[in-house]
Amino acid sequence: MTTKAKRKMRNTVKVFANIDEISKFAADKFFALSKKAIKKDGRFTVALAGGTTPKALYELLTTDQYKSKIDWENVYFFLSDERDVSPMSERSNYKMINESLITKLPIPTTNVFRWHTEIINAPEVAESYERSLFNFFKLSKGKFPNFDLILLGMGDDGHTASLFPFTDALFVDDKLAISNYIEKLDRKRLTFTYPTINNASNIIFLVSGENKSKTLKTVLEDTINIEKFPAQNISLNKGKVLWLVDKDAAKDLSS
Ligand code: 6PG
Repeated sequence: MTTKAKRKMRNTVKVFANIDEISKFAADKFFALSKKAIKKDGRFTVALAGGTTPKALYELLTTDQYKSKIDWENVYFFLSDERDVSPMSERSNYKMINESLITKLPIPTTNVFRWHTEIINAPEVAESYERSLFNFFKLSKGKFPNFDLILLGMGDDGHTASLFPFTDALFVDDKLAISNYIEKLDRKRLTFTYPTINNASNIIFLVSGENKSKTLKTVLEDTINIEKFPAQNISLNKGKVLWLVDKDAAKDLSS
């Protein structure tokens, strides 16, 4: 079977005119998955993406069209990665998510799990977050959380969450969450590991912008090189990863 055929088995790609159309589709999907999960398990567990792309989706979820439809009391938010900065920093994913989403929702603060980056030592932040995952999902050692939904973005270098090219985190499979030194940024990041992400029930990528078109084609269609393009190693144990991309980001895709 060709590489392309194998990848088609792992990914569903939907192309939209722009980020607003992506966000509308993603919000409808979020609503549908929340209803299904809460009906089945009494809760909807979601790991949110950082960066800038998902902000429009988060803001849309706080509009009357969605805010009143979703049972926020039973929605639980985590973050798939974080920068090693104060939660008040302009670079903090939590700050962006708190301002664009959480503060505008009737969601109990106890339903939101952020990385405690006020703990200065990044490895300790990761260990603390890993403990909160173990406790929340009631995991035994060696098990990984099964999020109902993980939202991800992709950088133009092919990173996702804070799994960056040629970094140590790419090879960690016995931890749920870790700190990861990114040489090109000369900074530490905090991130879910591949096993945590890939154990989700649903994964949705949101990708927008022409600057990502070449990397998106490589990630979705070209030979696997996970060290160079970490987003290639995102796949569901069951089902297909859903890529919501705009036409600018999709312009180099072959189909
Ligand atoms: C982060 C994100 C990161 C992001 C990509 C895309 O902490 O920055 O988690 O993985 O999703 O870098 O970022 P944009 O959406 O800003 O292009």
